[in-house]
Amino acid sequence: MEQKKTLFRILSHSAKETESAGILLASQLKGDEFVAMYGDLGAGKTAFVRGVASVIAPMYDVSSPTYTIVNEYGEGKGRLCHFDMYRIDSEDDLESIGFYDYTDCILIAEWSENIPYALPKSYYSVPIEKLSENERIITLEFVEAVK
Ligand SMILES: Nc1ncnc2c1ncn2[C@@H]1O[C@H](COP(=O)(O)OP(=O)(O)OP(=O)(O)O)[C@@H](O)[C@H]1O
Ligand SMILES: [Mg+2]
Repeated sequence: MEQKKTLFRILSHSAKETESAGILLASQLKGDEFVAMYGDLGAGKTAFVRGVASVIAPMYDVSSPTYTIVNEYGEGKGRLCHFDMYRIDSEDDLESIGFYDYTDCILIAEWSENIPYALPKSYYSVPIEKLSENERIITLEFVEAVK
């Protein structure tokens, strides 16, 4: 069974406000967490990652890893591994991009809808709902496996 704790739920009116939500999460991260992001095309997942990266690995430009599948920002404890799972169709795909070798970084994955089998025992979950052109509801949850 899983236990979910909601840490915040924010109404964002702009990409900048969505980045700020990412900054709030970043302040809780220590170095080896998993952040699963959910939401449609254009929901604002990459904008949120930009906020996270501005704290964890400032000086790095965040771009969408749609084609590369993974982008890495920063070094050592402050390394952020940014995945886009949009094109991942199976566990074989995931293995072939070396996903399971990324163990020593903060891992944040867009389109986690596509990798339910790869989620760790505990992780942050960030669903983003698109309400209108500029409005988004961003929720931060901590999900933990319980007996
Ligand atoms: N409140 C908002 N939060 C985030 N983005 C917003 C907001 N309002 C408008 N936008 C716009 O929506 C788009 C979000 O793009 P972004 O690349 O972050 O989405 P995404 O969820 O990563 O999409 P994809 O699934 O293609 O990777 C940007 O063009 C941004 O300017
Ligand atoms: Mg994106």
